[in-house]
Amino acid sequence: MNFHIMTLFPDMINNALSESITGRAIKNDLIKIDTVNIRDFAQNKYGHVDDYTYGGGAGMLMQAEPVYLAYKSIIDKLPYGDKTENKKPRVLYMTPQGTPFTQAMAKEYSKEEDLIILCGHYEGIDERVLEMIVTDNVSIGDFVLTGGELPAMMIVDAVSRLVPGVLGKEESALYESFYDGLLEYPQYTRPEVFMGKAVPDVLLSGHHKNIEKWRYEQSIQRTKERRPDLYKLYIKNNDEKSKK
Ligand code: ADE
Repeated sequence: MNFHIMTLFPDMINNALSESITGRAIKNDLIKIDTVNIRDFAQNKYGHVDDYTYGGGAGMLMQAEPVYLAYKSIIDKLPYGDKTENKKPRVLYMTPQGTPFTQAMAKEYSKEEDLIILCGHYEGIDERVLEMIVTDNVSIGDFVLTGGELPAMMIVDAVSRLVPGVLGKEESALYESFYDGLLEYPQYTRPEVFMGKAVPDVLLSGHHKNIEKWRYEQSIQRTKERRPDLYKLYIKNNDEKSKK
């Protein structure tokens, strides 16, 4: 899967994603990170890509043209390019005004061959180019960051681990938080007793049915306590399933 990231800070993205599991996935050719520096498409000799906003107000806005040209440079190098109207890659714009990112969205994006991610800076980007190229506005939460790079890295991370082969068997995504809509149960490793706190007996029993039951109950309890919104949804979905 190919991630094309339009940014003013390509090093920030390349440095972070070349570590750990995403780094291994890049080496194994399972994912590719293609950072495109929007500044390379500046239309003046100073390399400026921002300007004052029409109508006044504080702050600078990223101009439409360098963003459009950076987008065009990505489209032009894709094998299917801009030639067919019906096959255009998705363009995600990182913005606090977007749809809150979820595991379901990560799953959907992981089916794409190419994903373009646009990172904004300053006070935002000229609306006209956003209207022209963006297919999905995505937020990573109700707070405002200084730019779209951290959100983009989060999306790449969450989507990459769903690409077949990126996680090993041991790391398998199957039973982690949000599988089935529940949070993960608590886990323990050696020693059996740490500062007087013992591992729950059932986990040492070797009785797989009981362990499975305990873990399920813990997941339910944890979700109910920590994420009542997810718990409600889980109960609703299960009720509907049992009625079918
Ligand atoms: N850019 C700045 N803040 C953001 C957020 N919360 N989500 C996505 N992109 C952003």
